[in-house]
Amino acid sequence: IEQEALAAIAAAADLAALDAVRVAELGKKGRVSALMGALGKMSPDERKAQGPQLNALKTRVDDAIRLRKDVLENAALEARLVTERVDLTLPPAAGPGEGALHPVMQVFEEIAAIFGDMGFTVAEGPDIEDDWHNFTALNFPIGHPARETHDTFFMKALEGDTPKVLRTHTSPVQVRTMMEEKPPIRILVPGRVYRNDWDATHTPMFHQVEGLVIEKGIHMGHLKGCLIDFVKAFFEVDNVESRFRPHFFPFTEPSAEMDVKYSRNGDAIEIGAGDRWMEILGCGMVHPNVLRNCGIDPAVHQGFAFGMGVDRLAMLKYGMPDLRPYFEADPQWSRHYGFSP
Ligand code: PHE
Repeated sequence: IEQEALAAIAAAADLAALDAVRVAELGKKGRVSALMGALGKMSPDERKAQGPQLNALKTRVDDAIRLRKDVLENAALEARLVTERVDLTLPPAAGPGEGALHPVMQVFEEIAAIFGDMGFTVAEGPDIEDDWHNFTALNFPIGHPARETHDTFFMKALEGDTPKVLRTHTSPVQVRTMMEEKPPIRILVPGRVYRNDWDATHTPMFHQVEGLVIEKGIHMGHLKGCLIDFVKAFFEVDNVESRFRPHFFPFTEPSAEMDVKYSRNGDAIEIGAGDRWMEILGCGMVHPNVLRNCGIDPAVHQGFAFGMGVDRLAMLKYGMPDLRPYFEADPQWSRHYGFSP
């Protein structure tokens, strides 16, 4: 039995074969186990004579199995080290885990870079505003119909507090900045804004960029030049036909909406020339009441302001027809329009 067992152990080519030998010899119904079992039925003398021999046999088989197991395990490890070697020179695989900035952020950065060249710095303010910063300081008198046009989300008032709103535009940051800083002021304000509206081109949360310039001697010509330069740089065109159409905002006087000419080529929209006008932003000269509300003397300092929808500018520049996928976090969509790898 011992010879056979040792031969079988030596011949076992892998761990599974070795375990089969172990079961056949040392398992409950194994041959060595059967011999050990027979000991119990022997007379005390016979047992004394055979016991040590059988025990020694069992130990030798056991040891042989252990040794072979070590050898086979080492061999298996060697084999894995060879096949699983990592090639450090391979380039990393581009997988679904690779991310990118959201298109709105990328477009905001494009806008900030253009205005950055004109000396604007970035300023920010809170999404949850009070009525005074969002409306009153901006010359929306209490009860004025202009307030109704903003589809405002009102927050439940805390006890002893005036009710807060989700800011309906980035213009309250004009107020915050003028209250804190002395002119000259040249800021660009990115931010989320909120209005109760929902369809293919309106989402209840969207993004604006606001601009504010306060300096001595600022006039409408500065406003127009600045915005025309911006549109050319943003849409990457040498010339853009534009017009400033009179409009009304409580916080600017005069106020205007800027329209640009465009043409439509199938689904694609070309900004700059064409036979149709498109409105792209609101702007105007800062109203003297707003300057006064913020502690600036309108006889000394003047300024202009503008506000535009970033989501909409991104739709126009990159030909994205629907606003809703902006907020569905689909990498496929972002890749389709070239915003992520
Ligand atoms: N706040 C205005 C809006 O949301 C845009 C605007 C900003 C207009 C600054 C004029 C000056 O519609």
